[in-house]
Order: sequence, then structure tokens, then C-alpha cells
Amino acid sequence: MVLRYSSFLIVFVFLQHISFSKALKSSFSVEMIHRDSPKSPFYRPTETHFQRVENAILRSIHRANYLKLDSNDVEGTITPFSGEFLLNFSVGTPPVQVLGIVDTGSDMIWIQCQPCKHCYKEDKPIFDPSTSRTYSTIPCVSAYCLSAPHAFCNFNNGRHCAYRVTYDDDSTSEGDFSWETITLTSSTKNVPVTFPQTVIGCGHNNVAMFSEKTSGIVGLGIGPFSLAGQLEPKTGATFSYCLTPMYQGNPKPSYLHFGDAGEVTIKEAVSTPLIRNMEQPSMYFVVMEAISVGSKRIEFPRNGENGNILIDSGTTMTFLPDEVYSSLEREMVNAVKLPRTNNPIEGFRLCFGITPGEEYHIPIVYAHFKGGGTVTLYNVNTFVKISETVICFVFISGSEAIFGNLAQQDILIGYDTERNTVTFLNTDCTSEL
Ligand SMILES: *[C@@H]1O[C@H](CO)[C@@H](O)[C@H](O)[C@H]1NC(C)=O
Repeated sequence: MVLRYSSFLIVFVFLQHISFSKALKSSFSVEMIHRDSPKSPFYRPTETHFQRVENAILRSIHRANYLKLDSNDVEGTITPFSGEFLLNFSVGTPPVQVLGIVDTGSDMIWIQCQPCKHCYKEDKPIFDPSTSRTYSTIPCVSAYCLSAPHAFCNFNNGRHCAYRVTYDDDSTSEGDFSWETITLTSSTKNVPVTFPQTVIGCGHNNVAMFSEKTSGIVGLGIGPFSLAGQLEPKTGATFSYCLTPMYQGNPKPSYLHFGDAGEVTIKEAVSTPLIRNMEQPSMYFVVMEAISVGSKRIEFPRNGENGNILIDSGTTMTFLPDEVYSSLEREMVNAVKLPRTNNPIEGFRLCFGITPGEEYHIPIVYAHFKGGGTVTLYNVNTFVKISETVICFVFISGSEAIFGNLAQQDILIGYDTERNTVTFLNTDCTSEL
């Protein structure tokens, strides 16, 4: 018995190795689908461009409210998933296609699973692990079960490992902590890239605000069980993404890069230390020392120990500390030679009137990160057009500073959890691949 078990194990490891070297050459890229792009199931053709912008702004404010650090938080609470980007991948053998919400703020991958104790309504059939040859639960004695942040032993259920994640809005997912094969589609080669024995949550009890169009969450945050953490032994500790402008004409695809493709090594790139924040360990915090517009430099308050700004792909706007925002707004008002208008959408603080067809000038903003790195923020990063005659500043004040996804557009952003750096390179993201 023991012998059979171990030979099975050897064969399994061997097969795993083969499928690896065949499918994967250290490096690949996958498309991140923006929820407002025509490929996304959230896309509504009847919605106008400006309605999409407005909805994105509102989602962003909700997300920022949830992300607020709260000292009364229950331990293990992680951020929600309002989800601006989606990842198409498949689970199991034979593979079943699922659509997960990409969340750079959380550290676990889970999908809804049969049998459901409680599943939210999902448009596609819910994944049934009993139909997959490669699915297995993780035993309680496994090091995975003992070490994973959201895992615990379920003694009532065959002593296998369970997980429970709670998001800040009280949404939860719980179920079996499992091994399963996941397959991503490499955009560079248009071939499947297979990762056997990926640790995923098979959620049998998923309560609250998840969308019927998505099957679960793909955490891309810091931690051994996020997608980035689990790919690390195979692709290295780096990944990057380049977000194309989302609200300027037809959006082009944005890509997520792993392995060599994920390294940002160009000389002009600027690097800043990635800060491990004890209260939000899965999130990417950095220190922004100052922000400047024209010749005016506005210093951030000094509290850099835990990082003072979060880089989040799931938040649309950029939130700055009150005093920093107020000075920045003052400088913007001085520098922009356009008439100020009332804010047509709740949430914005600063909007200007424009004349259709007429050019206007927006001053460049520089973000000064710790370590001397300065990132240039152009018009595309700082303003969004919300109607034919109004543009609004996408920076506002907030109690938790967040570098949002509009500010990240057309910047290749690399994360390295080994060297602990975040790297920025101004890039035309539409020309990638
Ligand atoms: C996900 O991938 C499948 C298979 O390649 C494809 O049929 C489907 O349209 C994709 N879904 C999205 C939202 O791109």
C-alpha cells in the first residue's frame, strides 16, 4: 500500500514535470479583460461611454471605502473584489472555462464549486470537482493547510483542509482547500499554459455581493497562495502589467506578464521599495514622498514605515491624503487655463469645461517615489472626460491613499516580491505584444 502510494506520487511528479517543460518556457503573458471592454460579460452596448465612466467612478468610491484601514477589523479580513479586471482561465481536467475577478489586494484563488451549500447565482454551470481527474482535497496534515492564512482543518469532513475568506463588506467564501490544475492562455503564443496542483479554494458557501457573470476571485496580491505567489517557483518572483487607456475610444487589451516577460529591466524604469504592510500583508504598498505639478512640490506627511500609498488595479480613481490633495488641487486650479465647472458626478472634486474640438493643456504631474524614482503622469493619468464638454481630475482626497488604475494607465508596472521593488516605466501599453 505504502509502495503503491509512493510510486503513484513519483509518476505524478514526473508527469507534472513533463507537462511543464512542454507548456511553459519560463515566460508568458495573459490578457486582463477590463470589465467595460466589449469582450467582458459586463459590457452593455446600450450604455454610453460616459455612463461607463460614471459607474467606474462610483465603484471606485465604494472600493476605497472598503479598503479603509479599520483597527476593529476581524483578523483575516481582506479586501473585496469590486473588480475592474477579469481573467479568463480554465480549471480541472477536462478543463472548464471560468472567469475570475483579478484582485491585486487579496491572496487567494477561489471559484464556486458543486455541491453548493450556498452559491450566488452564476450564469455558467458551477464547477463540479467530481468531474475533474486532477482535483484533490488537501489533507489537514499537509504543510499547506498548516501554513496558509485562510486555511484550517475541517475535522467533520474527512480531516481535509478548509478555507474561509471574509471581505470587508462581509462577503465570504468558504469551502475546501484543494489542489487542481489551472490553465491560462498565453497571449504571446496563443497556447495554453498549464499549472498542475495549484492550490485553489473550492467554494461551497459563497455569500453576498459577487456577480453572476464571474466564478470567483483570482488574488494577485502578496502571499504564497495568490496566483503570483503560486507561479513564483516556476516563473520567478516578478510579474508586471501594462494598462491601456480604458476610457479613451475603443479600449485595447491590457496584459499581465509573468517570468522574463514580467521583468521590467529597461534603464529608464524607476524603482521604489515594495513595503510589507503588517496590517494589509497581501497589498502592494510603496512610499510616495511627494507629488509635484509644474515647479510646485507637495510633500507627503512622513509616515512611511508601513508604506503610505497602496497600488491597486481594482480602484479607478487615485486617493491622496487631505492636505496633499488640497495643495495639489490648488496648484491644478492655478495651472489649468480652463473654466471650472460644477461637478456633474458625485465623487469628483475638480472639473473643468472644455470646448469640443478645441485643444487644451493639462500640466504634467510627477509622482516622486522613495528611492529617487519619479514617474511622469500625463493627461491620460490625471483627467477623464466625462462628457463632451467636461473633464474631471481623477485624484481626490481619501483617508487611505490609493494609486488607482487610471493613474497607472500607459505605465508598465513591475512587481518583484524577492527584491521587494515596484518598478514603473512610462510605456505606450497599446503597442505591447
Ligand atoms: C474565455 O475563453 C474562452 C475559450 O478560449 C472563450 O470562448 C471566451 O469567449 C473567453 N471569454 C472572454 C470573456 O473573453
